[in-house]
Amino acid sequence: MTQPRPVDLVILGGGSGGYAAALRAAELGMTVVMVERDKVGGTCLHRGCIPTKALLHSAETVDVIKEAAQFGVNGSFESVDMAAVNGYKDKVVEGLFKGLTGLVKSRKIEVVRGTGTLVSPTAVEVDGRTIEANHVLLATGSYARSIPGLDVDHQRIVTSDDALSFDRIPASVIILGAGAIGCEFASVWSSFGADVTIVEALPHLVPLEEKSSSKLLERAFRKRGIKQELGARFASATVSDTGVTVALEGGKTLEAELLLVAIGRGPVSEGLGYEQIGVEMERGFVKVDAYCQTSVPTVSAVGDLIPTLQLAHVGFAEGILVAERLAGLPVTPVDYDGVPRVTYSHPEVASVGLTSKVATERGYDVVEATYDLAGNGKARILGTAGAVKVVAAKDGPVLGVHMVGERVGELIAEAQLITNWEALPSEVAQLIHPHPTMSEAVGEAHLALAGKPLHSHS
Ligand code: NAI
Repeated sequence: MTQPRPVDLVILGGGSGGYAAALRAAELGMTVVMVERDKVGGTCLHRGCIPTKALLHSAETVDVIKEAAQFGVNGSFESVDMAAVNGYKDKVVEGLFKGLTGLVKSRKIEVVRGTGTLVSPTAVEVDGRTIEANHVLLATGSYARSIPGLDVDHQRIVTSDDALSFDRIPASVIILGAGAIGCEFASVWSSFGADVTIVEALPHLVPLEEKSSSKLLERAFRKRGIKQELGARFASATVSDTGVTVALEGGKTLEAELLLVAIGRGPVSEGLGYEQIGVEMERGFVKVDAYCQTSVPTVSAVGDLIPTLQLAHVGFAEGILVAERLAGLPVTPVDYDGVPRVTYSHPEVASVGLTSKVATERGYDVVEATYDLAGNGKARILGTAGAVKVVAAKDGPVLGVHMVGERVGELIAEAQLITNWEALPSEVAQLIHPHPTMSEAVGEAHLALAGKPLHSHS
């Protein structure tokens, strides 16, 4: 069966990148068909951002109860009911899914359920139906990858997909990889009472972050009893009836009930016809220009499928960019340096802009100031440790902001404006922050950089 007339846009994949493009394109008057084999919302809504943050909130609640005496409140922690935790998490996801489904419907976007393949530069096929379109958007996302010789059996050796639907708390876990997924699950399981060991090949946790942020997280995790094998390379894993033994290069072995593999996500691009119609690829990722256009002019690609930051909010931005470009609006490429990044562990790690290392590599004469949260009233009240570090060009604008502490994921929005508007530290120093809030730490770091520290030593 062939559609009589081409639609304006057919989208393969209804995750963050795909549905953002669909919503914006429909808003701009385009006719849109979105093909999705599972549920609209994709990894972020169903297997990623949203359910993990719900688990992290349950974990935080455990910590609050356990630490209540510190605030003069007596109470005792009894147990975690994983069925109830999952019920709460699923309800959050369901509610958002319902809202998103309604939004998609209200914009008159046709959702076709099934696995689509690209059959020409202007057509997608789903279960024998050919959908012709003026433009195609590839947004098929990513999957949790493993390494050769490490077979995920979904029982003892698991990915984040499996870990999200556990009905029990493992007694002990080894986590391979200390990126966002590894650190967030380490945080959840540690709060829930598991014995957690993180194995990371590079010398630090969250190794792409500012080194001082990594060190603060390492210290906080050590205090929480989360063990860390840093600069340790995985050699092999052996599964038994009771658990898994992980051998590291160098001979050390670790044992636990479970091994979580969190060493990155690979693109979902195989067998979908991309290469066959001439879309240029790179290690399985779809190659695009700054406007998310592939080597085939009628085909665009966004989200985890392209080799940019694998973050939902990046997918949203790329999807909107493509929709606006196709509608003929003037568009600006995504500034990937300016994307805020948050690891929602306890404590949180958040950053935007350049690290001091990257700024130096790019030729900047770098100046920096760090404000320790120990001097911040609200941080003391909450009992959180951490810091806000600002990296700036000498006599120039702020280049990056790096934070560790409870709730700093909410503070990064201000840091994003500062960095992306290329504000001078002296300009930010003029802005008044409400007292007592954690946001004052952002102001204080800029005051220090502007040469007039208030609640810190110069
Ligand atoms: P990742 O790429 O961020 O981190 C993987 C880590 O595993 C790296 O630090 C790497 O050095 C390490 N690694 C790789 N091979 C190893 C080996 N053989 N032995 C030991 N360590 C090894 O990947 P992750 O955490 O799996 O996340 C996937 C994607 O999803 C990332 O792009 C991440 O940013 C994104 N994500 C973002 C979240 C957020 O924004 N809060 C939450 C979860 C995921």
